[in-house]
Amino acid sequence: MVLGGRLFYIVADSLQQRQLVRVPLSPPRGMDDILPDEFPLHRRLVETVRLLFRLYGYREVETPTVEYYELFAAKSGEEILSHMYVFKDAHGRQLALRPEMTAPIARLVTGKLSKSPHPIRLGYVADCYRLDEPQWGRRRRFYHGGFEIFGSKEPAADAECLVIFNDFLARAGVKDYFFKVGHVGVQRAVMTSAGIKEEDQDRVLALLDKGRVEEAESLVRQHAGNSEAVQLFSELAAHPPGPGFKTLEEVRERLGQLEPAARELENLRRIIELVSQNIEPSRLKYYPGFARGLSYYTGFIFEAYGSGADIALGGGGRYDGLVSLFGGEDIPGVGFAIGLTRVMQYIMDKEGAELGPDTPLAYIAPLAEEVIGHAFKAASEFRRAGIPTELEPSVYSASESIRRAERRGARFVVMIGRREAEKGTVTVRDLVERVQEEWRADEIYGQAKALLEKVGVGV
Ligand code: HAM
Repeated sequence: MVLGGRLFYIVADSLQQRQLVRVPLSPPRGMDDILPDEFPLHRRLVETVRLLFRLYGYREVETPTVEYYELFAAKSGEEILSHMYVFKDAHGRQLALRPEMTAPIARLVTGKLSKSPHPIRLGYVADCYRLDEPQWGRRRRFYHGGFEIFGSKEPAADAECLVIFNDFLARAGVKDYFFKVGHVGVQRAVMTSAGIKEEDQDRVLALLDKGRVEEAESLVRQHAGNSEAVQLFSELAAHPPGPGFKTLEEVRERLGQLEPAARELENLRRIIELVSQNIEPSRLKYYPGFARGLSYYTGFIFEAYGSGADIALGGGGRYDGLVSLFGGEDIPGVGFAIGLTRVMQYIMDKEGAELGPDTPLAYIAPLAEEVIGHAFKAASEFRRAGIPTELEPSVYSASESIRRAERRGARFVVMIGRREAEKGTVTVRDLVERVQEEWRADEIYGQAKALLEKVGVGV
């Protein structure tokens, strides 16, 4: 019984006592159901990610949605911590819904997978939770499709991340996109040269990420031991973004004799060089003042943007200290997460991707009560041949069966009446070509296989 708004009242039978229970019909604010019309697109994106796991050698893992709060408190950064779902269990343990997956994956590498040969490549598809203000592309529950490589400091590992993301976007059908790249190693080296501690560097970078450049500069000024570094930091923050190699040159000149920063910049140059075989140069823009919200990044960072949307479709970077922070060996790491929920919204709204539910290819229609057994047998043969098949549990006339098959989007309706049951046949009608054939029961498998080849879909 609908009683207005989005609330519904249902009658529950508990121990013979009928109770009226008030149940909200929507999930919690900012969280979404994925409905039949949306699922095929969601699945296509997830399957693309899984295909890339196989193609690039990433082994898929799954971790629990709920983790100990401390896992994220260690090094995720204020921005994420202040948006986390945190709660206590019955024993008073502080738990959290995972806001991201890099920390849980680093937990695995520190513990259960610590003996794996390097590099360790791990992939995941996981729902994550953040108390963000819901808006276009920003939800409180969203999917990450992620790739992490542990045990290599080489720029080829960083470059691989960009190449995979590029491969994903091309396969997902995103046409107009670019990568924003940066290197917090450069900013960190400048700050280290001025004696600024790591925690303070994290705070400066978090402010930069939020675009609060003046506050970041004043924090640098407050903690810096020399004014030259303050000046250099500000210049980097203000440096206009531009095409990879050109901007690298400009920044290199500006860094002058500051060798540690120049080495970090050289690392970025090498990464850009390595990807330039796979990614069109116009898709790469270097932002010298770029920082990301998570505080575990130590080097190369990047985000992907689609045209017409100013929020990232995904991002990542290098985080060399995370595993040792969790008590493991000093294992470097680099990786990224694709924001699958946001990508889905993007390709629906900006690329015109169409939604629609999975439809059966064959719809089996018993035309009389006594043929239901035959219908079951025929349905099994269609499925054995790999054809998605729905069996109508009720009996309808032939014309009503055709109507129902059409409404469900089926291509073939398979009708079995008394006549077919007696002869041991089925009548198969192609709803597109409007032709009809009769098959013997022992031919169904072979004929169904041939149909599948003809129409080219199935499972
Ligand atoms: P992140 O930038 O926080 O990085 O999230 C990655 C992507 O997830 C974002 O670029 C965005 O597409 C999507 N995303 C984030 N928040 C939301 C939201 N509220 N609603 C919808 N989509 C969202 C990470 O989480 C890092 N763990 C990535 C990484 C992996 N770095 C290294 N390895």
